[in-house]
Amino acid sequence: MGYFRENIEKAESYQPGFQPSQADVVKLNTNENPYPPSPQVMKVLATITAEQLRRYPDPLGNAFRQAAAEVNGVQPDYIMCCNGGDELLRIAFQAFCDENRPAAYPVPTYSLYPVLANLQNCQAIEVPFDSEFNLPAKLASSAAALTIVCNPNAPTGSFVSVEELASLADELAGILLIDEAYVDFAEANCTALVKDFDNVIILRSMSKGYSLSGLRFGYAIAKPSLIAGLMKVKDSYNVDAVAIAVATAAIKDQQYFKENVEKVKRDREELTEQLRALKFDVSKSYANFVLAKSKNCPASEIYDKLVQHNIYVRYFDLPGLSDKLRITVGTKEQNNKLILALKEILSED
Ligand SMILES: Cc1ncc(COP(=O)(O)O)c(C=O)c1O
Repeated sequence: MGYFRENIEKAESYQPGFQPSQADVVKLNTNENPYPPSPQVMKVLATITAEQLRRYPDPLGNAFRQAAAEVNGVQPDYIMCCNGGDELLRIAFQAFCDENRPAAYPVPTYSLYPVLANLQNCQAIEVPFDSEFNLPAKLASSAAALTIVCNPNAPTGSFVSVEELASLADELAGILLIDEAYVDFAEANCTALVKDFDNVIILRSMSKGYSLSGLRFGYAIAKPSLIAGLMKVKDSYNVDAVAIAVATAAIKDQQYFKENVEKVKRDREELTEQLRALKFDVSKSYANFVLAKSKNCPASEIYDKLVQHNIYVRYFDLPGLSDKLRITVGTKEQNNKLILALKEILSED
């Protein structure tokens, strides 16, 4: 017998996007926001005291809960702070799934879900999207304990309407977790559903819209009864004192947040047009990335050639994705460098 549980021994680990160590690269591969966080964040960071570090943090992160509750129009007991949205996903798998309690989700989607299912030793029911990434009807009848819909979806950037997700929540006997890591760049969100349904959990991330990927902070929105259950599974001090202070400053600065997100959305539309002009198929994105398929050159070849130009995008050698590249929306300057490099690469062929 090995030291590890059998499913851990056999598990494939999650493959995070490459994090190059050189500073002089154009990094469009892990959906970070290209702009800095709010200036309020850096001010708060500069005021952190030795005393704040000596003591354990508030186990519930109440300062953040209060601020996030105000922004989302709910009471603070609807909010749970997490060490990144990824921690909420792990907590959800631990809380709801086991050998007899499967998880279900439409594919292609965030590649962490099957990894977490495997760690929890639960069946993962993968229901394919159609070619237009509509919500598959079969999802409602999967009998999963945990159904996850990533909305906007990664890596497709597609969006399922709030009404469709409300119908799904209504039909499901288990939990519906709506992964809204990218929702800041969309036109609508599902917050209202947590008031109507006692089986809906919303995941939010501070990594994308708030430019805080390095901080590791996310949160759940759900009915207090669900939040109380999830809290039994989290580490007691899952978010640290610095993160609570910084994330609270960021979410309070809604004016900066909105301006930041608007810039990314504008640049996303421009990048989409520029890629289409180079004969890429690019479907409408509601996130801070686009999924692009060249009509003229294999995606893996373009990926390799972009690396030679010090430009990193994301290539997934997976069914339905291996002919496409996922490109994070960068600054105008980064996007223009990408387009220039693509022009060069495509003219070589
Ligand atoms: C679809 C999706 N959900 C959740 C997350 C988790 O984000 P974080 O842990 O940075 O908050 C990510 C991160 O890239 C993501 O792409």
